[in-house]
Amino acid sequence: MSNPVPALPVPAEPIAHRYVGKVAFITGAARGQGRAEAVRLAAEGADIIALDLCADLPTTTYAGATPEDLAETVAQVEKLDRRIIPIQADIRDYDTLEAGLKAAVADLGRLDVVIANAGMTSANRAWEIDAEHWRTTIDINLTGAFHTAKAAIPIMIEQATGGAIVFTSSVAGLVGLPFLADYARPSTASPGWPRPWPTSWPSTVSGSTACTPTEC
Ligand SMILES: NC(=O)c1ccc[n+]([C@@H]2O[C@H](COP(=O)([O-])OP(=O)(O)OC[C@H]3O[C@@H](n4cnc5c(N)ncnc54)[C@H](O)[C@@H]3O)[C@@H](O)[C@H]2O)c1
Repeated sequence: MSNPVPALPVPAEPIAHRYVGKVAFITGAARGQGRAEAVRLAAEGADIIALDLCADLPTTTYAGATPEDLAETVAQVEKLDRRIIPIQADIRDYDTLEAGLKAAVADLGRLDVVIANAGMTSANRAWEIDAEHWRTTIDINLTGAFHTAKAAIPIMIEQATGGAIVFTSSVAGLVGLPFLADYARPSTASPGWPRPWPTSWPSTVSGSTACTPTEC
């Protein structure tokens, strides 16, 4: 079997090989959920485009991902006999994101799945969040997700073979959680945000959805 079942925590069954011949673009893929998504999709047959900042963010109290983390994602996907193209870039920088995605798609041949997963959070009382901190959260969690979809959609429309775009959201967009006023505002916390996207694209791109980790 060319795609062996990876070790847990990836669920062992069923592995339906639903993504053989497909390519998935995942942001925030150096670690955490993004890496898990990359490894799971690779186990199901997909080649992967894995983008990550690989740097500390001044607005978080935890360490950022590292180039070594992204290299580990590459190693885990390659262990599954799939191809993976890592891109070290900031989703706030549209031109770099778009250029990296286009080059990777040209190399891997297509684009079928997009997961706008990169994001950050920090815990603050709403009235103590300074303007710069607010802008950083919005730029990454909202505008970064917009950049991800904006760069991918023309490629998928031209390809005209369907596909899916997933915006990683949060339960913070569904219920009131303390200290997350800036985080709860952007796309990572707005499950309704994907709904307008498909209304303006041809039926050749099948749809977009939101995933709310810890809830789904
Ligand atoms: N962990 C949870 O409980 C939880 C709950 C709800 C939603 N989420 C959301 O799920 C997503 C993944 O969370 P995680 O727990 O795996 O976090 P994580 O911090 O482990 O992973 C996020 C990744 O995004 C990358 N990233 C951050 N800013 C970036 C930028 N500007 N450009 C490119 N890459 C950038 C980071 O380097 C990191 O590798 C995030 O959007 C997060 O908000 C997480």
